[in-house]
Amino acid sequence: MTLNQRTRVVSAARPHQPNAGVNHPVDFTSTYMYRPSAENSLEYAREGSPTFDPLEQLLAELEGGDHGLLFSSGMAAISAVANQLPLGAHLVLPSHAYMGFSTLAQQMEDKGLLRLHRVDIADTEQVLGTVGEAAAAAETAGTEAMLWIESPTNPMLEVADIPALLAGAKQLGVTTAVDNTFATPLRQNPLEHGADVVLHSVTKFIAGHSDVLMGAAITSDTQMYEGLHNHRSFHGTVPGPMEVFLALRGVRTLAVRLDAAERNAQLLAQRLEESIHDDAVPVRSVCYPGLASHPQHERAESLLSGFGAIITLDTGSQQIADAVLERLQIWTPATSLGGVESLAERRRRHLTEPTSVPEGLIRLSVGIEDAEDLYQDVDQALRSAGDQLA
Ligand SMILES: Cc1ncc(COP(=O)(O)O)c(C=O)c1O
Repeated sequence: MTLNQRTRVVSAARPHQPNAGVNHPVDFTSTYMYRPSAENSLEYAREGSPTFDPLEQLLAELEGGDHGLLFSSGMAAISAVANQLPLGAHLVLPSHAYMGFSTLAQQMEDKGLLRLHRVDIADTEQVLGTVGEAAAAAETAGTEAMLWIESPTNPMLEVADIPALLAGAKQLGVTTAVDNTFATPLRQNPLEHGADVVLHSVTKFIAGHSDVLMGAAITSDTQMYEGLHNHRSFHGTVPGPMEVFLALRGVRTLAVRLDAAERNAQLLAQRLEESIHDDAVPVRSVCYPGLASHPQHERAESLLSGFGAIITLDTGSQQIADAVLERLQIWTPATSLGGVESLAERRRRHLTEPTSVPEGLIRLSVGIEDAEDLYQDVDQALRSAGDQLA
């Protein structure tokens, strides 16, 4: 029977034998007993543990891959993939890739480990042209090339034509990795379009309650899987059992949380966009893939089965953005995203965020509270900040 993803996220990877619990037990152990006379499949939790299995299996099933691997954070999963690249490899990455990875990649280039090519990931022709150049340069240098895709990007919400980019990269023999954190496995599945590996910050929508740090990589490529597993064991980037328990419990409600947050996000984005015409509200532009004004709205509509729960608004200046954050009452001013609670952040407060991200841009991670309450809170904060700074 082919299951809907909404069913799979709840029912996959549960125990099935009589008398077993509905949920898997959690092993709070670092090591497993070893007798020389007995066959030993479990050794030491840094190499993996039965506690990881259900969530790894569930994420692999949701993404349509053969193997899932949990890591101690999204960045641990990302750096495990980046570390699979040979010395001097050419990496094509979005100029608005998540700033943590963007910074790590820059540090790797500064040490001579990688050569970077930054692209506008929404511009398919530009990306594939650059991938072609990177592949040729890598071949001459006797190394490899990789295309890194993030879509929608954090925080600029650019939407890539994932099937076209993956097909083009494959023709050129270039390995591909997709950070699918913003879309979640319920809204797009890049492995089905030929990606070699898909990554998640489980910390965000998958765990969903801002109480866990975790990452995951999913792949059907056995060599990639073994390389990542080896990296995880020797760098020791495994999650703790409590985190795995929380993330597995959290992901079971992903479908309903995401539906609710997306409904709120669409309503909020529309109302905030209408308020651009109100002189008392300091909003210059609103960006959300579900708005007709989004530059890749049609692409998002055809490739994603939902527009996500992240909105950005440009208030025009750091002063206004900061004044808005001071005045929010229901929204929590904090970094991160994807939890049940709504968060707001001025992204340029991070020194590593590129200067092409406007100083006054606020990223909203829309939660599952009442949409009208969320709107009223942002609206009062904007009006009051606008009043004070007028
Ligand atoms: C798109 C994206 N990828 C990866 C990460 C890193 O994940 P973590 O914070 O779990 O290390 C983040 C964190 O914000 C992110 O937004």
